[in-house]
Amino acid sequence: METIVSGIRPTGNLHLGNYFGAVKNFVRLQEQANCYFFIADYHSLTTHPHPDNLHKQVRQVLAEYLACGLDPEKCTLFIQSDLPETAELYMLLGMNAYVGELERCTSFKDKIRQQPDNINAGLFTYPVLMAADILIHKASKVPVGKDQQQHLEMTRQFANRFNRIYETDVFPEPEAYNFGNELVKVPGLDGSGKMGKSEGEGNAVFLFDEPEAILKKVKKAVTDSGPTEPNQPKAASIQNIFDLMNLVSQPETIQFFNEQYDACSIRYGDMKKQLAEDMIIFTTPYREKIKTLINDDAYLKKIALAGKEKARESASKTIKEVREIIGFRSF
Ligand code: ADP
Ligand code: TRP
Repeated sequence: METIVSGIRPTGNLHLGNYFGAVKNFVRLQEQANCYFFIADYHSLTTHPHPDNLHKQVRQVLAEYLACGLDPEKCTLFIQSDLPETAELYMLLGMNAYVGELERCTSFKDKIRQQPDNINAGLFTYPVLMAADILIHKASKVPVGKDQQQHLEMTRQFANRFNRIYETDVFPEPEAYNFGNELVKVPGLDGSGKMGKSEGEGNAVFLFDEPEAILKKVKKAVTDSGPTEPNQPKAASIQNIFDLMNLVSQPETIQFFNEQYDACSIRYGDMKKQLAEDMIIFTTPYREKIKTLINDDAYLKKIALAGKEKARESASKTIKEVREIIGFRSF
């Protein structure tokens, strides 16, 4: 059976980008593969160095994973920092990761711009830790959004290089994965690129958002002054609103607003109201489940402990093998 690994950093609640780019695929994959899904709390330290509420945030994402339908009977659900084996593999892979290739990584260059006062070594070696997360379970597919494509290329590079140096085939070369043909990129509400936790306030709609908050954010979404002639191509910010509708609205609704757009009679206020309503219909069942789960301490603890045990079983096998391949021997 195929092995799948993926994780999300607990730097905020899950938003629709996380859901459609990643978690939706997790839920489907757990039915057909050997899946390891985790909460990347080590990784969150690269951007959140004072983790006052780290544990609270880890619990929140665990409850959110469960509310989205991840089933601990069908997949292994764990916390990244519960696996010291990952930290060891990260250190070992780091010996064969070149400064030049890490410097060229787009996410590193972005972060340098975003946090010039905290360009830490963890940020620099972020892709090495991510490769360790994946290779520690020898995954062949990694369900992630489009923004993670380059990290996956680097994971393949590290796996391939390790195999070459030690003349082994211990690591598969994993692929980024989505059920459709293309990796997903969910746009944000502010008219710029993607929905994300670290983008501006109001850019992301979270599964845990109350209806009023969703309505308020969507109302503020960036639009233009409207088409001036029939069948005009859509500006990026308008295309974003349509793309978001594609995720949560009925096909008839989308068709209706497309026709209105083409006829130059579209009212963005109405469209946004409809989008907000459909987002609320979509998120409400998740929000309610999260609210129940987040208070169930005993259950969350049980899931985290069981996941840790299962994940360590797989991780310790790999690290033992890797140590032998490298040539560490005990006296
Ligand atoms: P964020 O970008 O909000 O900090 P993460 O980096 O923790 O979120 O992303 C976790 C997962 O969600 C990754 O697989 C990532 O590709 C996916 N993801 C995040 N934002 C989007 C988006 N806007 N569209 C598609 N997938 C996304
Ligand atoms: N880098 C990923 C993100 O920001 C999170 C992550 C860490 C991850 N380790 C991983 C994703 C391993 C997939 C596999 O979204």
